[in-house]
Amino acid sequence: MNFFRHDWLKSIFFELGAGWYARKLASGPEAELRREFVDWLGPSAGARVLDVGCGPGHLARLLAQRGCRVIATDRSRRLLQIARRLAAADRTPVLFVRTAAERLPFPDGSFDLSLATAVVYLVPQPEGLLREMARVTRAGGTVASLDPSDAMQVRAMRAWSSAERLNARDTRKLVLWALAAERIGKRFSAAALRSLFVAAGLLEVQQELRLGGMVWFARAVKPPAG
Ligand SMILES: C[S@@+](CC[C@H](N)C(=O)[O-])C[C@H]1O[C@@H](n2cnc3c(N)ncnc32)[C@H](O)[C@@H]1O
Repeated sequence: MNFFRHDWLKSIFFELGAGWYARKLASGPEAELRREFVDWLGPSAGARVLDVGCGPGHLARLLAQRGCRVIATDRSRRLLQIARRLAAADRTPVLFVRTAAERLPFPDGSFDLSLATAVVYLVPQPEGLLREMARVTRAGGTVASLDPSDAMQVRAMRAWSSAERLNARDTRKLVLWALAAERIGKRFSAAALRSLFVAAGLLEVQQELRLGGMVWFARAVKPPAG
C-alpha cells in the first residue's frame, strides 16, 4: 500500500495544515464547486442537514445561511476550532461535533439530508461511511457526496485550469487536490461510485460530473424500512 494512504497520516495532515486548508477552501474554484453542490441538492429551508467531515465548515455555514438546521462533524480538533470561530464571527448557527465519521453519535433517521464533500474518497472504508450516513438519515431522505472521478489527474487538472484561464493561485489549489486524489485518496468511476451507494442500501442514485469531468456530485434516497 502507498505510504501516503495511511489514515493516521491524513489525520495528522489535516490537524497540522488546518489553517492553510481553511484558507484554501474559502474562495476560488473549490468554494464555487461547493456552492454548486448545494444548489444541485436544493435543500429546503428548515431541513435537518448533517455535514460529515466538515473541515473548516464553509459548506455547513452556507447551508445554515440558506435556512437549513445544520450539524457538522469532523475528527480534527483544529479544523473544528476554526469552523466554530468562523461561524461565531458571522453569527451562523451551526452545531459542530467532534467525532469519527464512521461512528456518528446520532439516532437513526435524525436528518433529512446527510452529505460529505471530499471525504468519501479519503476514508479507508467508503461503503461503511455511506452506510453510517444512511443510518442517520430518515427514510425518504437524501445521502449525498462530492468526490474525485477517475478522470482527476494532475495533468488533466493543469490542462483544464489553463483552458478555463484560471489564475496561478487557483490552478495551484486544484492541482494540489488532484495530487491528493492520485496519491492519498480514491478516484471513482461512475460504476464504482454507484455501487458504493447501492451497497450502502440506498436507491435512486443520481450522479453528475463537474469540473471538466473530474468531480462527481452524487446523491441517493434512503428507502423506507422493511
Ligand atoms: C478534504 S477535507 C474536506 C472538508 C470539507 N468537507 C470540504 O469539502 O470543504 C476532509 C475532511 O474530512 C475529515 N476526515 C477525514 N477522515 C475522517 C474520519 N474518518 N472521521 C471524521 N472526519 C474525517 C478531515 O479531518 C477533513 O476535515
